[in-house]
Amino acid sequence: MFRLLLRQSKIISHNYPNPYVRLPVQRWIHTTNKLLHGEYEWQDPKSDDEIVHVTYIDKDGKRTEVKGKVGDNVLYLAHRHGIEMEGACEASLACTTCHVYVIGKYYDQLPEAEEKEDDLLDMAPFLRENSRLGCQIILTKEMNGMQLQLPNATRNFYVDGHKPKPH
Ligand code: FES
Repeated sequence: MFRLLLRQSKIISHNYPNPYVRLPVQRWIHTTNKLLHGEYEWQDPKSDDEIVHVTYIDKDGKRTEVKGKVGDNVLYLAHRHGIEMEGACEASLACTTCHVYVIGKYYDQLPEAEEKEDDLLDMAPFLRENSRLGCQIILTKEMNGMQLQLPNATRNFYVDGHKPKPH
């Protein structure tokens, strides 16, 4: 929990002789610790029950097996393990740089893509029937053993070819 000092100006109406003097008022407020994008994926599973094994296959066919957990976003899990899944818009459904192929039965187990995800996938290069946006895949226990393959290229929406680095 964070403790923040909030400074405000307040009109003290009973402040005779000038009723409109603004005096600074200080208050402590408490806020709940909020996880930043991808911070959750940097936490190890708390028990074996939570573990979800995922294999990423890069465009050269190199396989990397990682130990994820229930609730992990596969984009941020990839970042944690140095997999080159870009994620330029940080999971805000505004790019296609997290494009992945979901291998085998796991594709059918995923919740259906939202219309916005489908629209974006239509613009993704090397689109296949098992294409999804990685940032929209949240691990469940049923996805244990999932294999995700990266396409040969993704479309970067930056006109100057800039490649943003994951945070
Ligand atoms: S990171 Fe941009 S849509 Fe997934």
